[in-house]
Amino acid sequence: MIITDYLPKDLFQDKVVFVTGGGSGINLGIARNFAALGANIGICGRTAEKLEAARAELEALGARVTTAVADVRYYEDLSKAFDKTKEELGPIHTLVCGAAGNFLAPAHQLSAHGFKAVVDIDLLGSFNACRAAFDQLKETRGVILFISAGQAFTPYFAQAHCGAAKAGVDNLMRNLAMEWGHYGIRSNSIAPGPIEGTEGMRRLAPGDDAFHARFQEAIPLGRYGTVDDIGQMAVFLASPLATYVTGTCVVVDGGQNLPGSGIYGHMLMEAMK
Ligand code: COA
Repeated sequence: MIITDYLPKDLFQDKVVFVTGGGSGINLGIARNFAALGANIGICGRTAEKLEAARAELEALGARVTTAVADVRYYEDLSKAFDKTKEELGPIHTLVCGAAGNFLAPAHQLSAHGFKAVVDIDLLGSFNACRAAFDQLKETRGVILFISAGQAFTPYFAQAHCGAAKAGVDNLMRNLAMEWGHYGIRSNSIAPGPIEGTEGMRRLAPGDDAFHARFQEAIPLGRYGTVDDIGQMAVFLASPLATYVTGTCVVVDGGQNLPGSGIYGHMLMEAMK
């Protein structure tokens, strides 16, 4: 983690950052970057063990942490988690809607329930989080960060469900930027590219070493991203450096989406044979 080489360690002192799906992966990486800059952290997820392991990591960085077992598909779960966070840490300043579900499935093999599961977690779950946190965000004149994806603006093989969900997330992001800007709330999204060592990569890039070498070669910056690449952008967007930025999606993908998804799609079709 290099963020403390560049930004003051008290940048988010006394601020509360809540990350849905914060128990692992990109979301935990985001939480770590905020914790390193003085924030106190709330996280929720479906697995208590993951949340407890994440808590230990975040506390080691100096954060006070609250955890809640909650499924973002259920509004009441989130509402309770946010009430608990306010009680223990104070009102939420930055809400990161990070919880997501995904798997590879060509559209003609995808069941309606599978499509719905992903839309419910990514899109309905993001709305639930924003709606349930609204009063607290209004109080802090806070920030919402959605986690989008390249699939929102580029069609990808075996990703119709994810593309629909994430395009919806970006549109929700813009709507809330417009409606809630009057309350001082900013709303932006980050679209990560392939991020190494994450559950998403394990699910979406199931190839061998040769697959990964080719995939990385096809990325203009020539490498996979790290969770800190995304955490750093999240910190920037939530910080006083970005107080006039709202309603935008920042793509953090090393240029991966610029040539489209063709190379990846063909490689994937080969790997899935
Ligand atoms: N291919 C096709 N369909 C799949 C699938 C796959 N790999 N995995 C799940 N589904 C379908 C199921 O078959 C089911 O549909 P059906 O009832 O018609 O058979 C539907 O999706 C729901 O599955 P279920 O396991 O009941 O859902 P869940 O709510 O327990 O889990 C998922 C949600 C499916 C998104 C699961 O993958 C998950 O929990 N993911 C969270 C972590 C994650 O995806 N991280 C990466 C983010 S990039």
